[in-house]
Amino acid sequence: MTPRVAVAGVHGHGASHVRNVARLAEAGRARLAAVADPRPAEHLPAGVRQYGGLEELLAAAEADVVIISTPIQTHVPLAELAMRAGADVLLEKPPTASLAEFEQLSALVDETGRACQVGFQAQASTATLKLAQMVADGRFGELRGISTIGKWVRKAQYFQRARWAGRRTLDGVAVVDGAVTNPLAHSTAAALLLDGSTGVDDVRSVETELFRANAIESDDTSTVRVVTGRGTKILVAVTLCATEHLEPEVIVHGSAGRAVLKYASDTLELPDGTVEKHGRADLLENLIAHRADPAVPLYCPLSATGGFTTVVEAVRAAADPAEIPAGLVRWEGEGLERHPIVHDVETWIDRASDELALFGELGAPWTVRPQREK
Ligand SMILES: NC(=O)c1ccc[n+]([C@@H]2O[C@H](COP(=O)([O-])OP(=O)(O)OC[C@H]3O[C@@H](n4cnc5c(N)ncnc54)[C@H](O)[C@@H]3O)[C@@H](O)[C@H]2O)c1
Repeated sequence: MTPRVAVAGVHGHGASHVRNVARLAEAGRARLAAVADPRPAEHLPAGVRQYGGLEELLAAAEADVVIISTPIQTHVPLAELAMRAGADVLLEKPPTASLAEFEQLSALVDETGRACQVGFQAQASTATLKLAQMVADGRFGELRGISTIGKWVRKAQYFQRARWAGRRTLDGVAVVDGAVTNPLAHSTAAALLLDGSTGVDDVRSVETELFRANAIESDDTSTVRVVTGRGTKILVAVTLCATEHLEPEVIVHGSAGRAVLKYASDTLELPDGTVEKHGRADLLENLIAHRADPAVPLYCPLSATGGFTTVVEAVRAAADPAEIPAGLVRWEGEGLERHPIVHDVETWIDRASDELALFGELGAPWTVRPQREK
């Protein structure tokens, strides 16, 4: 039977999920059963009914798969509703805002026997998977570490689009919507995958240094260092306050050279200068194939986001991000276009990546005192 797919959260990123289901529907491989969102949606495919919430939708319509593309703090309750109604779930990243929630959701997956695919689409890229295999095969010699570089520009409109944006908690509930854990989450998740350290027990320690230039609760300019069970150092260096918006990079540092993954464009740059363009599988198609034949593995089952969630937990438990002194921040644009640029942030991010060092260890001018967590 053609799987009936419901989508919860249809504005923002959810609009791309609706388009993706419509694409599969045209090919006769899925049917858009209904959507749930408290905000009215225009431009839904003809005949598709909207409900104000997922509970209401599931009471009125049958769904085999539910896509959840809603604020982070709603992920676990909505996934529970969907799985208890017998649906498999495609849950947006980050799957949960804490390790406790991750354990709760993992227990629900076990109890209901439903599949839970997490929306880390870079995990389904052949660029990521090929590089992970090359690392496992020792193709870059001795592994010195893995780093991620994220230099993004996020404007006022990004933080003003929703109540949960840039929050660490909302109404007493964990959200953890910071640069490391949400907008640039794919970087950390991909680095963990390259090391073969995706499980919750694969992370030995996490050190966080969280800063912010925006008037938000969460971090927008941070370094995080993860040491994995196999002893690999993963250094995450990211900002939402860059001069220019660039594609994130995940860099493997080996004694035989560097390889760079640009996951947004499925590009791989190898130490000999070769640049390879890859493709990627679609996470919903993969979930549908897994439903039809459980021998087809999911690209990103919930269990493969445990290492990432250990990083989320360290960021959640860390002290509030330190404000970057005004003298180190330049503001550009007006109104919804306004955004901060942290002085020389690109140089410090590049150094953090090359030296696998935290901003504070390098003496970046905005650093105060590192917060060490695990
Ligand atoms: N995989 C990716 O590359 C990617 C990219 C962007 C966002 N995301 C993720 O997608 C999720 C949504 O992010 P966004 O930026 O689109 O958020 P958003 O706040 O812009 O949009 C969320 C939508 O969910 C709706 N919503 C809120 N509560 C709901 C509920 N209880 N039931 C149904 N709908 C509800 C809102 O009305 C809104 O339409 C987040 O987890 C985010 O991290 C993933």
